[in-house]
Amino acid sequence: MPSIVSDPAAWQRQRAALEGTLGFVPTMGNLHEGHMALVRQAKAENDHVLVSIFVNPTQFNQRADYDAYLRTLADDVALLDKAGVEFVFTPDEKAMYPDNYEMQVQETVLSQQLEGKFRPGHFQGMLTVVLKLLNIAGATRAYFGEKDFQQLMLVKKMAQAFFLPVDIVAVPTVRGKNGLALSSRNGRLSPAQHEQAVLLSQLLRSEAANDAVAQKLDAAGFKTEYVATEWGRRLAAAWLGDVRLIDNVKVQGE
Ligand code: PAF
Repeated sequence: MPSIVSDPAAWQRQRAALEGTLGFVPTMGNLHEGHMALVRQAKAENDHVLVSIFVNPTQFNQRADYDAYLRTLADDVALLDKAGVEFVFTPDEKAMYPDNYEMQVQETVLSQQLEGKFRPGHFQGMLTVVLKLLNIAGATRAYFGEKDFQQLMLVKKMAQAFFLPVDIVAVPTVRGKNGLALSSRNGRLSPAQHEQAVLLSQLLRSEAANDAVAQKLDAAGFKTEYVATEWGRRLAAAWLGDVRLIDNVKVQGE
């Protein structure tokens, strides 16, 4: 079983006594194969692995969404145990926000586009908690999925801007057999919506222009927020019922 630590200072003491490299995988729990790909890569590249499980309130746009987020700690720990993870960090809100949410990290350019336009404050909350987690973890490398591509860009930018002594490692998106990117939110899709959702990655890979992709998605019952090309990727966000899906694919030739 992994050793479970909830107190930031206790983990920092444990880390200081640990020799060798540490791979860190920050998560909000409800783990699936996408997370486990990050964990496997962290295991392959480091002497030790720490996984954090913390549902960060400040990156949710609606309190109801935060409340509805599935907490599956026992299952998550069992999966991490099977994967041979040594350490799991499970802080609570009080431990993570001793400042009562008064210190925040703000990025003013990248965070204003795409996701930032539709989820105001999301990236501020995400960057703030990631900075805290990276400072606590003391990792050699930290692993982030390409599925949340804008998040990955922002975390890399923050690490560079603040001279954080950690390598940010990007891990390719894990997809189901039908091409749907794995996400904790997929569990909220009905079987029919699950089939429909496949269209998102199919259209992103198609030759159709961004506007045409948005039109086709809407015609198929999605409510599209954006389809855009940035950073050598084609990215989209769209609602299917009350589930918000995001995905991105590499642009051919990049
Ligand atoms: O990608 C996520 O699960 C979250 O944004 C992260 C990086 C764990 C920060 O809360």
